[in-house]
Amino acid sequence: MKPESLLSFVQISDTHLRPSKQPSGWWLSNQPADLLRSAVTKVGLLKNVDFVLFTGDLFDRAEAAALDEFRTIVQGLPCPYYVCVGNHDVVGQPWPGRLTKADFASRLQLPDKLYYSVALKPGFRLLVLDTVPPRFPHAQGRLPAEQMEWLRWQLLVHREEIILIALHHPPVAPAYFREFRLHPGDGIQLAELVAASPNVFAVLSGHLHVPRRWNYRRRPYFSAPSLGGPPNAFRHFRLELSPKQARLHYDWIPVTVDDVRRPLWFPLSMGRLRDRRGRYRLQLPALAQGKQKRASRLNAAS
Ligand SMILES: [Fe+2]
Ligand SMILES: [Fe+2]
Repeated sequence: MKPESLLSFVQISDTHLRPSKQPSGWWLSNQPADLLRSAVTKVGLLKNVDFVLFTGDLFDRAEAAALDEFRTIVQGLPCPYYVCVGNHDVVGQPWPGRLTKADFASRLQLPDKLYYSVALKPGFRLLVLDTVPPRFPHAQGRLPAEQMEWLRWQLLVHREEIILIALHHPPVAPAYFREFRLHPGDGIQLAELVAASPNVFAVLSGHLHVPRRWNYRRRPYFSAPSLGGPPNAFRHFRLELSPKQARLHYDWIPVTVDDVRRPLWFPLSMGRLRDRRGRYRLQLPALAQGKQKRASRLNAAS
């Protein structure tokens, strides 16, 4: 029996668009806009993608012109897209030609607070978090108490929906990624909240530029590859339900342009095979209940 496809989506991260051509790191490609255009074309070739999720660092130097470039390119997507803010997307104080959080929100038509809840389709929800410190965006990522409380409330109110969580800084990265992960105290609070919320099926992050798949208390945490720097790739996720179980499949889609940088550590930026593609078996009570309801409806009708 063919598995039932529940959700198909793409995660693109860390494009680091910069019309000014001044990169914040030499390893970043000089053609981030071409990489994004190519990724948009590749998304168009995938079948039935429900949405694209950008997990931050859309831009490199928070340039307003980069946001215009981004909006023009993503017009080519065949589906809706949603955005997390990253530390390179905004500045802490008003600065001519650069984006504050308020500019970023209003110009991308996002809620004023950059954490928000999206009904993806009946029974499926995306919760987007904002981990970028407002005054000093490049400081370590934080999840303030107010936002944690909001998340707790969202998970309670929508406890019967299947939920995906997205944020820029990885919340459960091991200590050797300490420079890049979310503040460990905030990360563990988030991970424990997720562990207590049985219908959260995955937590997706960016920022690290290295693909990883971690497990914490039987939930998958995915750190995304960078599109604008090595390894120049993105992932396609499919949530499927077979008669026996739900599975999250993830595939690796490389993107190339003329000028891609290959630093010595390029192989490390590729991760291991299971970081790039694979499948993760999920326990989702909401799906089990939905199956029971469907089966009882069929029995009643027959
Ligand atoms: Fe980045
Ligand atoms: Fe970042």
